[in-house]
Amino acid sequence: MSNATATQSTPDLRAGRMAESLIGSEIIKLAAEINEKIRNGEKVYNFTIGDFNPKIFPIPTALKKEIIAAYDADETNYPAADGVAELRKAVSELIEKRQGLKYATDEILIAGGARPVIYAIYRTVLDPGEKVLFPVPSWNNNHYTHMNSGDYSFQVFVETKPENNFMPTAAELKPHLKDVALVSLCSPLNPTGTTFTKETLTEICDMILEENKRRGPSQKPLYLLYDQIYWALTFGDVKHYDPVSLRPEMRNYTIFVDGISKSLAATGVRVGWAMGPKRIVEKMKSILSHVGAWAPKAEQVASAKFLSDLNQYDAFLDDIKEKVNARLVGFHKGFQSLKAKGFKVDSIAPQAAIYLTVQFALHGKKTADGKTLATTKDITSYILNEAKVAVVPFNAFGASAESNWYRLSVGTCKLEDVELVIESLEKALSKLS
Ligand SMILES: Cc1ncc(COP(=O)(O)O)c(C=O)c1O
Repeated sequence: MSNATATQSTPDLRAGRMAESLIGSEIIKLAAEINEKIRNGEKVYNFTIGDFNPKIFPIPTALKKEIIAAYDADETNYPAADGVAELRKAVSELIEKRQGLKYATDEILIAGGARPVIYAIYRTVLDPGEKVLFPVPSWNNNHYTHMNSGDYSFQVFVETKPENNFMPTAAELKPHLKDVALVSLCSPLNPTGTTFTKETLTEICDMILEENKRRGPSQKPLYLLYDQIYWALTFGDVKHYDPVSLRPEMRNYTIFVDGISKSLAATGVRVGWAMGPKRIVEKMKSILSHVGAWAPKAEQVASAKFLSDLNQYDAFLDDIKEKVNARLVGFHKGFQSLKAKGFKVDSIAPQAAIYLTVQFALHGKKTADGKTLATTKDITSYILNEAKVAVVPFNAFGASAESNWYRLSVGTCKLEDVELVIESLEKALSKLS
């Protein structure tokens, strides 16, 4: 028997073409390397992951209590396929009162976080082989495109520029609109922590409306996925703009992605939602009901209660925004002071989300032991090994390999570490020639 097993050839357990060629998350890969270092006892300031350390940024206490209460009340059976009615009502009221957007409860779909919502939008509006337009750096559009069409070649991307805060302009997107079935935009943007200006987003909306006029009623329209998951985390005078408030006609073509993962520091609670035209939302609901990507019922019931009290929602936001902003501003000032001292670094003033855009323009610099920092990977490793600071290069978000810009995420950062990190960077930078 054992002889027979030994002589059998190992089967070729290859998966289908789409899964075989799907690239895993570059950020999660990088984070795994860093966690390995941490496990080995190295002190690393790990600012790679777009998540919160719950010991520093816990979810609202009231939300936690409601979740426990919901389990105590046995809210453990299947939720409604489009989400529990109370939560859809709470979301509808929240976005009306805080964003001025009117979506009825049957134009809202609840899911287990924003990811399934994004997946459902791609599956719903795209035919196989249709193309998707998005800016880079941006988060995961390449992978969603691949999962939909089985090939990365269906992505159409434009690389954004630092002088535009890495947000796309209408002129950059325009040449591609005719060729695509979906435009995927995000503001505030992961990885940059920057936002659309009113003017730019208005111009983009006008372009999409014009393109849909050109397509006419007999063709499937060009849709816009608008990911606003960070919209509640804007700082100071920065305002969040959305396509439908700017151009009400965009309501027909826009599907919003939103949820509590970032604004309530609740990435592990898994409650997200979409708002959009009823017909599209219903199709998304059918898709997700087969996937079973509901948010757990107890979490839905609890989120409905929490979000129904806008005073406690606002109080939580005020608090988290102050804490996140203090870190982002601290790092921005630190980078600007390093720049003022002549080091080849830079940063873009933080506007929103939990990210700071920083630059290490160190290509060609020589280390103390005579090695040249020839690639972005060399720079990333140098900063990690010498300053013990881990950040994600924009090429992990689709930017070109030679980009020397990085995302610094502060969701795991203690305020007192900001100064220490800048000091550590200064020491590491001083050793370069
Ligand atoms: C822009 C953006 N959209 C969506 C998500 C996914 O959110 P969720 O954790 O709710 O699936 C993320 C997570 O990092 C994100 O950055």
